[in-house]
Amino acid sequence: MVEKKIDVKNTIVEIDGDEMTRVMWKWVKDELLFPYLNMKVEYYDLGLPKRDETDDKITMEAANAIKKHIVGVKCATITPDKKRISEYKLKQEWKSPNATLRAALDGTIFRGPILVKNVPPAIRTWKKPIYIGRHAYGDVYKNQEIRVPGPGKGEIVFRPEKGDPVVLTIQDFKGPGILQGIHNTDASIKSFAKASFLFALDRKMPLWFSTKDTISKTYDGTFRALFQEVYDKEFKKQFEDAKLEYFYTLIDDAVARIIKSEGGMLWSIKNYDGDVMSDMLGSAFGSLAMMTSVLVSPSGYFEYEAAHGTVQKHYYKHQKGEKTSTNPMALIFAWTGGLRKRGELDNTPDVVDFANKLDAASIETIESGIMTKDLEQWANPSKSNKVVMSQDFIAAIKKNLDNKLKGKK
Ligand SMILES: NC(=O)c1ccc[n+]([C@@H]2O[C@H](COP(=O)([O-])OP(=O)(O)OC[C@H]3O[C@@H](n4cnc5c(N)ncnc54)[C@H](O)[C@@H]3O)[C@@H](O)[C@H]2O)c1
Repeated sequence: MVEKKIDVKNTIVEIDGDEMTRVMWKWVKDELLFPYLNMKVEYYDLGLPKRDETDDKITMEAANAIKKHIVGVKCATITPDKKRISEYKLKQEWKSPNATLRAALDGTIFRGPILVKNVPPAIRTWKKPIYIGRHAYGDVYKNQEIRVPGPGKGEIVFRPEKGDPVVLTIQDFKGPGILQGIHNTDASIKSFAKASFLFALDRKMPLWFSTKDTISKTYDGTFRALFQEVYDKEFKKQFEDAKLEYFYTLIDDAVARIIKSEGGMLWSIKNYDGDVMSDMLGSAFGSLAMMTSVLVSPSGYFEYEAAHGTVQKHYYKHQKGEKTSTNPMALIFAWTGGLRKRGELDNTPDVVDFANKLDAASIETIESGIMTKDLEQWANPSKSNKVVMSQDFIAAIKKNLDNKLKGKK
């Protein structure tokens, strides 16, 4: 226990989620946050039942709350599919709440690993964290798709406000197939570029950017050209002064180089590439649960989240009364990310200090050998390694945190 709680000056938007992450979210708050902090939260329940009950209006309300209060922290949520519709008896297949929030806030998602000494990355050469900058707007996440039933012409059409439409044939179908239309905007790509350059400067890391512009000369080519334009106009001098490099290369070349690099760069990529590559990196650095994720919007809003999903199978065990060894690290780091940002914006160093101490207490717990099952097989073998259940893991972190907070006196 602490004698005096730390005041968090302004409101944090709390976005609750589903399944095992919802269960652990409460444990993290009850054990590691509320006993230490006087924290005002504006709570939005984005659990699937509530989204269904409110016809998903709650998701937009949460996005608007982040626009009002600037900092939000989000638990993992179910993106419904056909199976979930029957499991939760849903009115309809609601959209991904992450896609809705990202579309509303625009911006870029930055993901980086939580490094612990005793869980070395799967790639031998990686010595430093690799951050992914994932564009969070458009492409396949805001598409239209057609299941083509049989022969016919698939076209793409643009009708300008003034002037003649532009019509291109995508495919003359001789039989059934599929069609997809995607888009992006110059404004969003430029803010993606800007956010990436700023994040790299802030972390003193080189920025790598990659697309497939040899194949997609207009779509991906525009991403490449706009990044270069933003760099030349706004960041070239700052990068040169900081002795940092901006490096463009094709995505396949980037993948090959990253695997053989020692890490230490921000790698910005398009929405889908980021979705896939961040899971590969998270897993290669130890576990999906060892990945931090923050959405940075060009208007200056921040949404911190776990990069992983709701850990469905563990939840079914939990429902049967079984204990699980699910890793809460990414959920804890979502909260500490939000608290640190809140502290920076509010000019309250004690809040920043608390967030740093909670991060350190969590990392040191794993480094002392106490860990969840997902990390066990990747950790350096040691007699002190001990796999524990989630609540015991959180209790061990709490003990470390209490020691750190006492040390402050
Ligand atoms: N950020 C989000 O809101 C988000 C992201 C991805 C998936 N989802 C949702 O999550 C649900 C489950 O999806 P999924 O199974 O593809 O992804 P998942 O991330 O829940 O699980 C993928 C694998 O990683 C393991 N894993 C993930 N997080 C872990 C943790 N904290 N501790 C231990 N092991 C962990 C799981 O056991 C599983 O084997 C789906 O309904 C999906 O829509 C949400």
